[in-house]
Amino acid sequence: MEMGEATRRDFLYIATGAVGAVGVGALAWPFVSQMNPDASALALASIEVDVSNVAEGQQIKVMWRGKPLFIRSRTDKEIEEAKAIDLADLRDPVARNMNLAEDAPATDENRAAGGVEGTAAEYGEKLLIMIGVCTHLGCIPIGEAGDFDGWFCPCHGSHYDTAGRIRKGPAPENLHIPPYQFISDTVVKIG
Ligand code: FES
Repeated sequence: MEMGEATRRDFLYIATGAVGAVGVGALAWPFVSQMNPDASALALASIEVDVSNVAEGQQIKVMWRGKPLFIRSRTDKEIEEAKAIDLADLRDPVARNMNLAEDAPATDENRAAGGVEGTAAEYGEKLLIMIGVCTHLGCIPIGEAGDFDGWFCPCHGSHYDTAGRIRKGPAPENLHIPPYQFISDTVVKIG
């Protein structure tokens, strides 16, 4: 084997390992959520997450710019519930999706990853990527909870639906959606 080939192979191995580490870090988050994030992590302008690790019905949390992100692979039932909502019943009628126009309506399509250009088809309806910070006073909502089977903020009782839209309680806005894009079939770059 020529030296040049060996060097290239080593490089590919290291690059693959780095992508793997992103997945491990994301899954490890629930166990370290009480620790203060490292200052260097806070400074990260963007992160890459392999969403193939997120099973249907599961949510992972990752840190981005000092805030938790919720990355959930929704079940068919959750998607159906979110799509069945009459937009006139929504408290906050806009999508709050940083990838879309500011006045884009809060349809399920505009909340899920399918509304973001370049999203791999298999993740379009299922994947929901949101900033996990209650729009009332900033607590972190609990998943699969509340009157609408979405997220519930226990601080003052805000209920979000399965598309992360505010439905009841004091929070004024839907959970915000960060800027992101797929950079491969399974890896999302956020920020
Ligand atoms: S901070 Fe969530 S309801 Fe007040």
